[in-house]
Amino acid sequence: MIDLYQMKTIFLLLPATLLSAVLASCATNESKQPIDGATLFEDNCQRCHRYADDLREPKDFLKRAVHDGGRDMPSFQNVLTLEEEDALATYLSTL
Ligand code: HEC
Repeated sequence: MIDLYQMKTIFLLLPATLLSAVLASCATNESKQPIDGATLFEDNCQRCHRYADDLREPKDFLKRAVHDGGRDMPSFQNVLTLEEEDALATYLSTL
């Protein structure tokens, strides 16, 4: 038989355990969230290139343009990771 003390312990601990499990899974999901090309475009490119559609180019070309920059375009090699450059180029080239 479970006595009152054990009941209390279970009812107090259970929600706390569940809550921390939920929080932990949220945290992990966030760090594993795939890099979103659309968000990268909005955060880094939109202020100069208004429409993502205008940048629909072959992926390799996009990667080079973003990494190296251009005459009047800044290089993003110190701003984006290679993984982000790749995700962005994939997004734009497949619009
Ligand atoms: C500060 C403004 C600015 C930002 C921010 C910017 N660009 Fe540019 N981009 C330009 C300019 C200006 C050109 C014209 C070519 C040049 O400067 O050499 C250009 C050219 C390009 C080209 C070559 C287009 C062509 O057909 O030759 C691509 C591709 C490109 N940008 C992609 C991007 C992407 C992707 C981002 C976001 C990571 C971005 N740009 C951010 C200003 C910018």
